[in-house]
Amino acid sequence: MRVYLDNAATTPLDPEVFEAMKPFLLEDFGNPSSTHAHGRKVRAAIESSRKKIAELLNCTPGEIIFTSGGTEADNAIIRGAIQTYGIKHVISSPIEHHAVEHTLATLEKQGDIKLHFVRLDEKGHVDLAHLESLLKEFPNALVSLMHANNEIGNLLDVQKVGELCHQYNAYFHSDTVQTMGHYKHDLKQLKVHGMTAAAHKFHGPKGVGFMYINKDKKIKPMVYGGAQERNMRGGTENTYGIIGLAKALEICYREMAEHEAHIVKLKNHMIEKLKATVSGVSFHGDSDNLNRSLYTVLNVSFPESEENEMMLFNLDLQGISASGGSACSSGATTGSHVLGAIYPNSKRGAARFSFSKYNTIEEIDFAVSKVAELFKVSV
Ligand SMILES: Cc1ncc(COP(=O)(O)O)c(C=O)c1O
Repeated sequence: MRVYLDNAATTPLDPEVFEAMKPFLLEDFGNPSSTHAHGRKVRAAIESSRKKIAELLNCTPGEIIFTSGGTEADNAIIRGAIQTYGIKHVISSPIEHHAVEHTLATLEKQGDIKLHFVRLDEKGHVDLAHLESLLKEFPNALVSLMHANNEIGNLLDVQKVGELCHQYNAYFHSDTVQTMGHYKHDLKQLKVHGMTAAAHKFHGPKGVGFMYINKDKKIKPMVYGGAQERNMRGGTENTYGIIGLAKALEICYREMAEHEAHIVKLKNHMIEKLKATVSGVSFHGDSDNLNRSLYTVLNVSFPESEENEMMLFNLDLQGISASGGSACSSGATTGSHVLGAIYPNSKRGAARFSFSKYNTIEEIDFAVSKVAELFKVSV
């Protein structure tokens, strides 16, 4: 048996998405910028994909700009907002994804901005009172705080943070890469100015994503070239990727309640089984709290043990694909900057299990039995 429990890293493509993409890989190969029939057909399909996404998110099509994925979208919003509005102070957290963290660290090193980290509580949640005091001290700042943490799943109250940002005239960017397709984002309600998505996190293809840029808070582009994406991102569009992205999001919205109920069941089952089999097990961040964490992510904290060092390697050998930290840097030998920020002195082990609609209870049982074997407990 081989079990895939690393869906926060990437998800398998939905066959319905593949079917939607196929014609654009084979027959409909035109360049959407061409004005002849081949080009016009693809242009129409891209624009209808944009319209579909805008309808789902309750925004206007002009506010959706296609990119190569989450990293590019995060970079473009952060760099664009800073440049366009002459922003000097950025408020963020030490547990952002590297797409945000490394971008901000580079800008600070260059002397472009001063970076301020908001305080986190003992579970890794943003301290909103401290955020407000930073906003008061540095009005007109850029705030970059992720909707859900990709390692521990902690959820941010985006509505509340948006209102605070509005009050202090801050530009609010939220990395929504892990929540897109799993929660409904209503952009008429949320006071967010920039938001990001990557299709491969919700059963779409890799190498394509989008950014939402609020029409009243436009920014300068990061990539210059042709007039594609309303001059916001030069370069021939990833046509089949965009078609697949829109189809994947459409499926997510269509079946969200059903998928959420299924995945919540898997997550609860894993929490209960682990607690019953591995003594001293706990959960990093707030990942075992269904009300304040992304339902697709469970970050398990294992007691200090010799087994911890090789745990992911051994789980892999036993047929389980899981991850030890940020998916994007799995394989890297450095520890998790997220766990390091919340638990600076911890020697406990960590494994992130992340679920999708394709996982089953049997797979969870199999994974828990292998974890138990590593800790030499019989199930
Ligand atoms: C929260 C978050 N932001 C950004 C990204 C980067 O997305 P991409 O790999 O599509 O560039 C990831 C990917 O793991 C992520 O989890």
